[in-house]
Amino acid sequence: MAALADRIPIAGASFPRFTVRPLTGSFGGLVAGIQVRDAITDDALLSDLRAAWIRYQVLFFRDQQLAPEEHLALAERFGEVQKQGYVASLKATPGVWVQEYPDMYRMPVNDINWHSDSSFRANPTRGSLLYAIDVPGGAGDTVWADMCAAWDDLSPAWQQFLAGLTAIHDNMAKNFHRILDSMDGEALGKMRKFLPPTEHPVVCTHPESGRRFLFVGELMTREITGMSERESRTVLDFLFAHQTRPEYQCRWKWEPGSLALWDNYSTIHRGIFDFGQSHRLMHRVSFHDHWRPAR
Ligand code: SIN
Repeated sequence: MAALADRIPIAGASFPRFTVRPLTGSFGGLVAGIQVRDAITDDALLSDLRAAWIRYQVLFFRDQQLAPEEHLALAERFGEVQKQGYVASLKATPGVWVQEYPDMYRMPVNDINWHSDSSFRANPTRGSLLYAIDVPGGAGDTVWADMCAAWDDLSPAWQQFLAGLTAIHDNMAKNFHRILDSMDGEALGKMRKFLPPTEHPVVCTHPESGRRFLFVGELMTREITGMSERESRTVLDFLFAHQTRPEYQCRWKWEPGSLALWDNYSTIHRGIFDFGQSHRLMHRVSFHDHWRPAR
Protein backbone atom coordinates (compact mmCIF):
# COMPACT_ATOMS: atom_id res chain seq x y z
CA MET A 1 0.00 0.00 0.00
CA ALA A 2 1.26 3.48 -0.89
CA ALA A 3 0.53 4.87 2.58
CA LEU A 4 -0.09 8.58 2.90
CA ALA A 5 2.82 8.78 5.35
CA ASP A 6 5.16 7.57 2.60
CA ARG A 7 3.95 9.93 -0.06
CA ILE A 8 6.49 12.28 -1.60
CA PRO A 9 4.73 15.61 -2.06
CA ILE A 10 4.52 16.81 -5.63
CA ALA A 11 7.28 19.34 -6.40
CA GLY A 12 7.01 22.77 -7.96
CA ALA A 13 8.17 23.24 -11.52
CA SER A 14 9.72 25.90 -13.69
CA PHE A 15 8.92 26.12 -17.37
CA PRO A 16 10.59 28.65 -19.67
CA ARG A 17 7.63 31.03 -19.48
CA PHE A 18 5.95 30.21 -16.15
CA THR A 19 6.34 28.57 -12.76
CA VAL A 20 3.98 26.16 -11.01
CA ARG A 21 3.57 26.12 -7.24
CA PRO A 22 1.89 23.01 -5.82
CA LEU A 23 -1.22 23.71 -3.77
CA THR A 24 -1.49 20.31 -2.04
CA GLY A 25 0.69 17.26 -1.50
CA SER A 26 -0.53 15.44 -4.58
CA PHE A 27 -2.15 17.69 -7.17
CA GLY A 28 -3.22 21.21 -8.09
CA GLY A 29 -0.71 23.82 -9.22
CA LEU A 30 -0.82 27.61 -9.20
CA VAL A 31 0.67 28.94 -12.43
CA ALA A 32 2.41 32.32 -12.33
CA GLY A 33 4.07 34.49 -14.96
CA ILE A 34 1.74 34.30 -17.94
CA GLN A 35 -1.48 35.44 -19.49
CA VAL A 36 -2.82 32.05 -20.46
CA ARG A 37 -4.54 33.47 -23.54
CA ASP A 38 -1.08 33.75 -25.13
CA ALA A 39 -1.21 29.96 -25.57
CA ILE A 40 -3.88 30.46 -28.25
CA THR A 41 -1.16 31.39 -30.72
CA ASP A 42 2.01 30.14 -29.00
CA ASP A 43 2.61 26.41 -29.58
CA ALA A 44 5.57 26.14 -27.20
CA LEU A 45 3.61 27.74 -24.38
CA LEU A 46 0.63 25.51 -25.09
CA SER A 47 2.79 22.40 -25.02
CA ASP A 48 4.32 23.39 -21.63
CA LEU A 49 0.87 24.20 -20.25
CA ARG A 50 -0.41 20.84 -21.40
CA ALA A 51 2.54 19.08 -19.73
CA ALA A 52 1.87 20.99 -16.49
CA TRP A 53 -1.84 20.18 -16.72
CA ILE A 54 -1.16 16.45 -17.06
CA ARG A 55 1.25 16.57 -14.14
CA TYR A 56 -0.80 18.71 -11.71
CA GLN A 57 -4.27 17.62 -12.95
CA VAL A 58 -5.74 21.03 -12.08
CA LEU A 59 -4.02 24.30 -12.95
CA PHE A 60 -5.03 27.59 -11.36
CA PHE A 61 -4.33 31.11 -12.58
CA ARG A 62 -4.93 34.57 -11.11
CA ASP A 63 -5.54 37.91 -12.79
CA GLN A 64 -6.29 36.57 -16.24
CA GLN A 65 -7.74 38.64 -19.03
CA LEU A 66 -9.86 36.32 -21.10
CA ALA A 67 -12.56 37.66 -23.39
CA PRO A 68 -15.23 35.08 -24.31
CA GLU A 69 -13.82 34.57 -27.82
CA GLU A 70 -10.33 34.03 -26.31
CA HIS A 71 -11.77 31.63 -23.74
CA LEU A 72 -13.29 29.61 -26.56
CA ALA A 73 -10.15 29.71 -28.70
CA LEU A 74 -8.03 28.59 -25.75
CA ALA A 75 -10.31 25.62 -25.03
CA GLU A 76 -10.18 24.64 -28.70
CA ARG A 77 -6.42 24.22 -28.26
CA PHE A 78 -7.08 21.54 -25.61
CA GLY A 79 -9.89 19.58 -27.22
CA GLU A 80 -13.19 19.71 -29.05
CA VAL A 81 -15.43 22.29 -27.43
CA GLN A 82 -18.79 21.09 -26.15
CA LYS A 83 -21.28 23.54 -27.58
CA GLN A 84 -24.29 22.16 -25.72
CA GLY A 85 -24.25 22.47 -21.96
CA TYR A 86 -26.61 22.21 -19.04
CA VAL A 87 -26.76 26.01 -19.02
CA ALA A 88 -27.06 28.54 -21.85
CA SER A 89 -24.07 29.82 -23.78
CA LEU A 90 -23.29 33.43 -24.54
CA LYS A 91 -25.14 34.17 -27.80
CA ALA A 92 -22.10 35.43 -29.68
CA THR A 93 -19.83 32.58 -28.52
CA PRO A 94 -21.71 29.26 -28.33
CA GLY A 95 -19.74 26.98 -26.03
CA VAL A 96 -19.01 29.70 -23.47
CA TRP A 97 -21.54 28.65 -20.85
CA VAL A 98 -22.85 31.19 -18.40
CA GLN A 99 -23.10 29.99 -14.80
CA GLU A 100 -24.82 32.81 -13.00
CA TYR A 101 -26.22 32.79 -9.49
CA PRO A 102 -28.70 33.28 -7.92
CA ASP A 103 -30.45 32.61 -11.28
CA MET A 104 -29.09 29.05 -11.46
CA TYR A 105 -30.79 28.23 -8.15
CA ARG A 106 -34.08 28.49 -10.01
CA MET A 107 -33.15 25.61 -12.30
CA PRO A 108 -34.82 22.38 -11.31
CA VAL A 109 -31.49 20.58 -11.55
CA ASN A 110 -29.43 21.90 -8.72
CA ASP A 111 -28.54 19.08 -6.39
CA ILE A 112 -24.85 19.65 -6.87
CA ASN A 113 -22.45 17.20 -5.40
CA TRP A 114 -19.10 15.49 -6.06
CA HIS A 115 -18.81 14.46 -9.69
CA SER A 116 -16.76 14.21 -12.81
CA ASP A 117 -18.60 16.17 -15.52
CA SER A 118 -20.82 14.03 -17.76
CA SER A 119 -19.39 10.75 -16.47
CA PHE A 120 -22.76 9.31 -17.53
CA ARG A 121 -21.74 9.70 -21.16
CA ALA A 122 -19.84 7.05 -23.09
CA ASN A 123 -17.19 9.72 -23.75
CA PRO A 124 -17.12 11.99 -20.72
CA THR A 125 -15.82 15.56 -20.71
CA ARG A 126 -12.02 15.71 -21.01
CA GLY A 127 -11.57 19.01 -19.19
CA SER A 128 -12.96 22.45 -18.48
CA LEU A 129 -11.79 26.03 -18.22
CA LEU A 130 -13.80 27.89 -15.58
CA TYR A 131 -13.29 31.66 -15.42
CA ALA A 132 -14.57 33.94 -12.67
CA ILE A 133 -16.18 37.23 -13.67
CA ASP A 134 -17.90 38.20 -10.42
CA VAL A 135 -17.63 36.31 -7.15
CA PRO A 136 -19.07 36.78 -3.67
CA GLY A 137 -16.31 37.91 -1.30
CA GLY A 138 -14.82 34.95 0.56
CA ALA A 139 -17.52 32.49 -0.53
CA GLY A 140 -18.40 30.31 -3.53
CA ASP A 141 -15.20 28.25 -3.65
CA THR A 142 -14.80 25.13 -5.77
CA VAL A 143 -13.15 21.97 -4.44
CA TRP A 144 -11.44 19.28 -6.48
CA ALA A 145 -10.31 15.84 -5.30
CA ASP A 146 -7.44 13.82 -6.76
CA MET A 147 -8.60 10.39 -7.91
CA CYS A 148 -5.06 9.17 -8.63
CA ALA A 149 -4.10 9.74 -4.99
CA ALA A 150 -7.38 8.17 -3.84
CA TRP A 151 -6.49 5.06 -5.87
CA ASP A 152 -2.82 5.01 -4.85
CA ASP A 153 -3.71 5.07 -1.15
CA LEU A 154 -5.93 1.99 -1.25
CA SER A 155 -4.55 -1.28 0.04
CA PRO A 156 -3.58 -3.95 -2.53
CA ALA A 157 -6.58 -5.97 -1.34
CA TRP A 158 -9.02 -3.15 -2.17
CA GLN A 159 -7.20 -2.36 -5.41
CA GLN A 160 -7.46 -5.97 -6.51
CA PHE A 161 -11.15 -6.09 -5.60
CA LEU A 162 -11.97 -2.87 -7.46
CA ALA A 163 -9.83 -3.49 -10.53
CA GLY A 164 -12.31 -5.89 -12.12
CA LEU A 165 -15.47 -3.92 -11.32
CA THR A 166 -17.60 -1.70 -13.49
CA ALA A 167 -20.22 0.84 -12.40
CA ILE A 168 -23.31 2.36 -13.93
CA HIS A 169 -23.22 6.16 -14.31
CA ASP A 170 -26.63 7.74 -14.62
CA ASN A 171 -27.56 11.41 -14.72
CA MET A 172 -31.13 10.51 -13.79
CA ALA A 173 -30.23 8.80 -10.53
CA LYS A 174 -29.63 11.87 -8.37
CA ASN A 175 -28.77 14.92 -10.38
CA PHE A 176 -32.13 15.37 -12.01
CA HIS A 177 -34.33 14.00 -9.27
CA ARG A 178 -36.28 17.22 -8.69
CA ILE A 179 -37.26 17.53 -12.33
CA LEU A 180 -37.88 13.78 -12.61
CA ASP A 181 -40.28 13.76 -9.66
CA SER A 182 -42.58 16.09 -11.57
CA MET A 183 -42.54 14.09 -14.84
CA ASP A 184 -45.11 11.63 -16.14
CA GLY A 185 -44.19 8.27 -17.69
CA GLU A 186 -43.98 9.53 -21.26
CA ALA A 187 -41.73 12.46 -20.40
CA LEU A 188 -39.57 10.17 -18.29
CA GLY A 189 -39.26 7.77 -21.23
CA LYS A 190 -38.11 10.59 -23.52
CA MET A 191 -35.62 11.80 -20.95
CA ARG A 192 -34.29 8.26 -20.50
CA LYS A 193 -33.75 7.99 -24.25
CA PHE A 194 -31.83 11.26 -24.22
CA LEU A 195 -29.80 10.31 -21.13
CA PRO A 196 -29.11 6.58 -21.18
CA PRO A 197 -27.00 5.19 -18.34
CA THR A 198 -23.45 4.13 -19.19
CA GLU A 199 -21.13 1.50 -17.77
CA HIS A 200 -17.50 2.38 -17.01
CA PRO A 201 -14.66 0.62 -15.18
CA VAL A 202 -14.37 1.69 -11.55
CA VAL A 203 -10.63 2.05 -12.04
CA CYS A 204 -9.29 3.56 -15.25
CA THR A 205 -5.88 4.30 -16.73
CA HIS A 206 -5.36 7.89 -17.76
CA PRO A 207 -4.88 8.14 -21.54
CA GLU A 208 -2.07 10.71 -21.22
CA SER A 209 -0.35 10.27 -17.86
CA GLY A 210 -0.75 6.48 -17.73
CA ARG A 211 -1.74 6.79 -14.04
CA ARG A 212 -4.60 4.81 -12.60
CA PHE A 213 -7.51 6.63 -11.02
CA LEU A 214 -10.85 5.92 -9.38
CA PHE A 215 -13.67 6.76 -11.73
CA VAL A 216 -16.77 7.09 -9.57
CA GLY A 217 -18.59 10.09 -8.07
CA GLU A 218 -21.53 10.46 -5.75
CA LEU A 219 -23.72 12.53 -8.06
CA MET A 220 -23.70 10.29 -11.10
CA THR A 221 -22.47 6.80 -10.15
CA ARG A 222 -25.60 4.76 -9.49
CA GLU A 223 -24.47 1.22 -8.79
CA ILE A 224 -21.73 -1.36 -9.10
CA THR A 225 -22.57 -3.81 -11.85
CA GLY A 226 -23.46 -7.37 -10.91
CA MET A 227 -24.02 -6.76 -7.20
CA SER A 228 -27.12 -6.73 -5.05
CA GLU A 229 -28.33 -3.27 -4.07
CA ARG A 230 -27.03 -3.76 -0.54
CA GLU A 231 -23.59 -4.88 -1.71
CA SER A 232 -23.34 -2.09 -4.26
CA ARG A 233 -24.41 0.53 -1.71
CA THR A 234 -21.77 -0.71 0.73
CA VAL A 235 -18.97 -0.52 -1.83
CA LEU A 236 -20.05 2.87 -3.17
CA ASP A 237 -20.52 4.34 0.32
CA PHE A 238 -16.96 3.35 1.12
CA LEU A 239 -15.63 4.79 -2.15
CA PHE A 240 -17.58 8.05 -1.86
CA ALA A 241 -16.25 8.59 1.68
CA HIS A 242 -12.73 7.53 0.73
CA GLN A 243 -12.39 9.62 -2.44
CA THR A 244 -13.40 12.86 -0.70
CA ARG A 245 -11.01 12.67 2.26
CA PRO A 246 -9.44 16.09 2.92
CA GLU A 247 -6.04 14.60 2.03
CA TYR A 248 -7.13 14.42 -1.62
CA GLN A 249 -8.80 17.80 -1.81
CA CYS A 250 -7.73 21.14 -3.20
CA ARG A 251 -10.01 24.08 -2.43
CA TRP A 252 -9.77 27.13 -4.63
CA LYS A 253 -10.83 30.66 -3.70
CA TRP A 254 -12.03 32.58 -6.70
CA GLU A 255 -11.33 36.21 -7.42
CA PRO A 256 -12.49 38.09 -10.52
CA GLY A 257 -10.04 37.04 -13.25
CA SER A 258 -9.23 33.65 -11.69
CA LEU A 259 -9.19 30.66 -14.01
CA ALA A 260 -9.11 26.90 -13.38
CA LEU A 261 -8.24 24.25 -15.94
CA TRP A 262 -9.06 20.75 -14.74
CA ASP A 263 -8.53 17.23 -15.90
CA ASN A 264 -12.04 15.87 -15.65
CA TYR A 265 -10.91 12.23 -15.88
CA SER A 266 -8.62 11.99 -12.87
CA THR A 267 -10.38 14.48 -10.59
CA ILE A 268 -13.85 15.05 -9.20
CA HIS A 269 -15.16 18.40 -8.04
CA ARG A 270 -18.02 20.25 -6.44
CA GLY A 271 -19.02 23.87 -6.04
CA ILE A 272 -19.53 25.24 -2.52
CA PHE A 273 -22.81 27.10 -2.62
CA ASP A 274 -22.49 29.03 0.63
CA PHE A 275 -23.29 32.49 -0.71
CA GLY A 276 -27.08 32.66 -0.49
CA GLN A 277 -28.57 35.09 -3.00
CA SER A 278 -25.29 36.89 -3.69
CA HIS A 279 -24.16 37.29 -7.27
CA ARG A 280 -21.67 34.79 -8.70
CA LEU A 281 -20.91 34.84 -12.42
CA MET A 282 -18.64 32.33 -14.08
CA HIS A 283 -17.89 31.59 -17.72
CA ARG A 284 -17.06 28.04 -18.56
CA VAL A 285 -15.88 26.15 -21.62
CA SER A 286 -15.71 22.35 -21.58
CA PHE A 287 -14.05 20.16 -24.16
CA HIS A 288 -13.75 16.48 -24.97
CA ASP A 289 -11.43 14.13 -26.82
CA HIS A 290 -13.76 11.14 -27.37
CA TRP A 291 -11.83 8.80 -25.05
CA ARG A 292 -13.90 5.98 -23.60
CA PRO A 293 -12.90 5.26 -19.98
CA ALA A 294 -10.85 2.09 -19.94
CA ARG A 295 -8.75 0.01 -17.58
C1 SIN B 1 -19.63 22.42 -11.21
O1 SIN B 1 -19.18 22.23 -12.33
O2 SIN B 1 -20.03 21.50 -10.54
C2 SIN B 1 -19.72 23.83 -10.66
C3 SIN B 1 -18.41 24.34 -10.24
C4 SIN B 1 -18.54 25.73 -9.71
O3 SIN B 1 -19.28 26.55 -10.26
O4 SIN B 1 -17.87 26.03 -8.73
